[in-house]
Amino acid sequence: MEEIPKIKPAFRTNHVEYAIRDIVEASKEAKRAGKELIYLNIGDPVQYGFSPPENILKAVCDALFKNYNSYSDSVGIPEAVEAIRNYALRKGIKPVDIYVTQGASEAIEFAISALVNPGENILLPCPCYPLYQAIVAKFEIRPRYYHLDEENGWEPELDNIEKLIDKNTKAIIVINPNNPTGAIYSRETLQRIVDLARKYRLVIFSDEIYDQFILEDNIEHISIASLAEDVPVVTFNGLSKNYFAPGFRIGWGIISGPEEILGDYIEAIHKLARARLCAPHPLQFAIPEALNNENGHLKKILSVLKHRRDILVNGLNQIEHITCVKPVGAFYAFPRLHLEISDLEFTKRLILEEGVVVVHGSGFGQKPGTRHFRIVFLPEEEKLYTALEKIERFIKKISSV
Ligand SMILES: Cc1ncc(COP(=O)(O)O)c(C=O)c1O
Repeated sequence: MEEIPKIKPAFRTNHVEYAIRDIVEASKEAKRAGKELIYLNIGDPVQYGFSPPENILKAVCDALFKNYNSYSDSVGIPEAVEAIRNYALRKGIKPVDIYVTQGASEAIEFAISALVNPGENILLPCPCYPLYQAIVAKFEIRPRYYHLDEENGWEPELDNIEKLIDKNTKAIIVINPNNPTGAIYSRETLQRIVDLARKYRLVIFSDEIYDQFILEDNIEHISIASLAEDVPVVTFNGLSKNYFAPGFRIGWGIISGPEEILGDYIEAIHKLARARLCAPHPLQFAIPEALNNENGHLKKILSVLKHRRDILVNGLNQIEHITCVKPVGAFYAFPRLHLEISDLEFTKRLILEEGVVVVHGSGFGQKPGTRHFRIVFLPEEEKLYTALEKIERFIKKISSV
């Protein structure tokens, strides 16, 4: 019988990867073998027992029952856009345009794909949140990586960055607060990025999805757009993290900078928004409810989270062969392994032998010769203590061979 050829996926999907994928298999195997798993790999607060504030849930329920179940305006309902505008103004950003999307992920994809042609390049941090690598792979954009410096609190290394820029460089991505390192960038660093963008006419993409997750009183989060009135910036944010609502799939982009040069770009983004109709309509009613009120819900949780961060980071730093820079934002740490084992093998074996699930550093990117893993400090103290014991036991085992 004639063999029917397999359906071939498009080339554009060949390099689309997501770091989590590699560890899923190991987790399944460990589960099959009866291991109880401690998940320290998921960037979803709801999976750790946190839930969105009640007033936000109520706003969404009301919207559902009032039958706001039609399509909405493609760039968002006016009440949401107005609330985002006011939030932006409070952060010192002067919005020229705002668009509401299906999570910050879609805002990021629209902003990049509306700007950068196949073969052109953008500057990405290394390590980086893997969505960006997936988007550049899909749109055949060339990534050029600038390193984040572990020796300097994971601040971006900007001294050599000009070498990466050529006439095809369109933009620089800044993730602040950072996933996976938990760093929050200083004003000086942000100012240097603005100067660079101004000099080389780059658009700045600033991912600020964790901007309310600040774990130290003496650190403030600065929106880079507030330092750059004359530079085009798209600032991304949403409800997934600050309001514990990742399943709502609500995010947005705020475009700022010189209005006279932004018109065509804004229209290109709006075209993409119109083509997919809209973000979930009833869920958009959560935005004004969230942004027009104090986020007291998160404030209470931050002190708990800070305590968990301290348990985890102090614990890791007491384990031989591990060092960990203290994260000051978001809910991740990116500890370094001082062992000869590859980070992927370390992670897989840690899952299989001890049931502790973390993500290998190479899934985010790391300096050649260094090895890391990403670990989440959202779980309860007990779990963190148990995980630390298991990590220590595992390290002792592999370092004694
Ligand atoms: C840095 C960063 N940006 C964007 C996202 C995606 O956000 P959303 O759920 O709004 O699509 C995440 C999710 O983990 C993230 O860590």
